[in-house]
Amino acid sequence: MAKYLVTGGAGFIGSHLVKTLVGRGDEVRVLDNFETGKRSNLVEVEGQIELREVDLRDAGGVREACEGVDYVLHEAALPSVPRSVKEPRPSHETNVDGTFNVLEGARLAGVKRVVYAASSSAYGNQPGFPRVETMRPQPVSPYAVQKLTGELYMQSYWQVYGLETVCLRYFNIFGPCQDPSSTYSGVMAKFAMQMLCGEQPTIFGDGEQGRDFTYIDNVVSANLLAMKAPATFVAGRVFNIACGERHTLNETYSGLARLLSYALPAQYGPEREGDVRDSLAEVSAARAAFGYEPQIDFAEGLRRTVDWYRQKYAPREEQT
Ligand code: UD1
Repeated sequence: MAKYLVTGGAGFIGSHLVKTLVGRGDEVRVLDNFETGKRSNLVEVEGQIELREVDLRDAGGVREACEGVDYVLHEAALPSVPRSVKEPRPSHETNVDGTFNVLEGARLAGVKRVVYAASSSAYGNQPGFPRVETMRPQPVSPYAVQKLTGELYMQSYWQVYGLETVCLRYFNIFGPCQDPSSTYSGVMAKFAMQMLCGEQPTIFGDGEQGRDFTYIDNVVSANLLAMKAPATFVAGRVFNIACGERHTLNETYSGLARLLSYALPAQYGPEREGDVRDSLAEVSAARAAFGYEPQIDFAEGLRRTVDWYRQKYAPREEQT
């Protein structure tokens, strides 16, 4: 039985990974500072995990959390492009210094492999679709720079110290447990919640920007595969993790509205600063290196997500 450390284990993506690992009998330690993570995401595995309330910026705490661990899944981050535009320092400290602390902790503790939650934002606004890992990164927002810096550190630690690292560039992940309540929430969670509450969502820009929205289960399987693949195929490398489909915000809005029987049209506001116009991934590198296949497509992911939000947040009378 392997021992895993999941940083950000109480967050949206981290908690899905934790539950999957516990479900298959692995030993799991969770590190989270609960700034954006939620204890409620881990209720199903209460008593079955070791929980460390540690901030990523606490080098000593992170170092200790790496002791005795075989694999690290580094999901902890201060996410959101607009948050990083508004307040770049806190997200820099968490996303860059924090990632450095994880690598140092893993190196000193003799961890076998670190799989890192990288971001599609690294590609920026350059021409050329789909995005392929060989393209030169052109990050726009501070968040994109921070996540890319983490990738470079991952690659350095493989080349210099021989610590096996794998970077997975996530493309707009969505699904159950994504927090809908913050101004910085991912658009899918935010719109679903607003529609359920009878509020009118705002689309920033003309709504024709596209995203390769990726259902959470695909990310979980990518992590498990990348963790186990032979080092010769994955160590020191970067892989896109996505569905390989582009959907516009207007289309996403209509899909959610249809599933939720929501009748109001979207309101339109100014384009968001630091936003990338389009995003679409080529996933053949991950397929070739570790057999990644997106199992749940956009339409099915949307249905599952809406079902979850409806169950969790719909007014009581609607549930009876
Ligand atoms: C970006 C990254 C993604 C990363 C995420 C972390 C890209 C292409 N993607 O997502 O890989 O995981 O940051 O936070 O860079 N929007 C609205 N109305 C709202 C909220 C958002 O119209 O109320 C729009 C945004 O302007 C954007 C799109 O929806 O065009 C998606 O926004 P969001 O869900 O915040 O994700 P990205 O910034 O695309």
